[in-house]
Amino acid sequence: MQIKIAPSILASDFANVGETVRNLEASGADLVHCDVMDGNFVPPITFGAQMVKAIRPHTKLPLDCHLMVLHPETHIEDFARAGADIITVHAEACDIPALFREIASFGVKKSAVINPDTPVGKIFPAVDEGADMILLMSVRPGWGGQKFIHETLQKIETLRNYCVARGKPDLDIEVDGGITEENVKDVIAAGANVIVAGSTVFRAADMVATIRRLRG
Ligand code: DX5
Ligand code: ZN
Repeated sequence: MQIKIAPSILASDFANVGETVRNLEASGADLVHCDVMDGNFVPPITFGAQMVKAIRPHTKLPLDCHLMVLHPETHIEDFARAGADIITVHAEACDIPALFREIASFGVKKSAVINPDTPVGKIFPAVDEGADMILLMSVRPGWGGQKFIHETLQKIETLRNYCVARGKPDLDIEVDGGITEENVKDVIAAGANVIVAGSTVFRAADMVATIRRLRG
């Protein structure tokens, strides 16, 4: 499967986000991961659709919008109109089938995510609802720079097996949080193919080489 690298701009300099996404594109990234936090679903507040709109003209890379918000249903239209290519909603925060219908109505790819403490079976219905991608959190959402939760590897394997059993062996499985050049091999071997990396990419001395090495 094609391995895609999705650097999270959460770890970047918010004063220069346009330049950041241009650099990411030039450095070989495949997606731009946008971590949207509302101060309710998770304690911090980051940014909203206005930021997505602002960076849209600076890159052709797909904008992968991870909505860590309560009531995501009230924000889908704004993110779609701002230029999101993929919208990921938390199974803990909404009714997935209804949100998928809303996201698809704007021609945007639909994705669902679960937190580390949520059993992997809770995301299976989203596979059957036609998800374009499934995201598994490998840290508790809210902050970059945390340690990868090892138990995620088993969840990735279980989810990949479920996708195979349901006739969707190539479904994109994204993993988010604590991914480094060391543990990425295990994440890919377990069956993930979309790799979110914040600190690892933005603390790198050589972004091009780091993105290349993250491909496993
Ligand atoms: C956590 C965010 C992640 C985070 C990843 O709430 O969803 O995308 O920014 O950052 P690192 O790679 O630093 O763990
Ligand atoms: Zn994220």
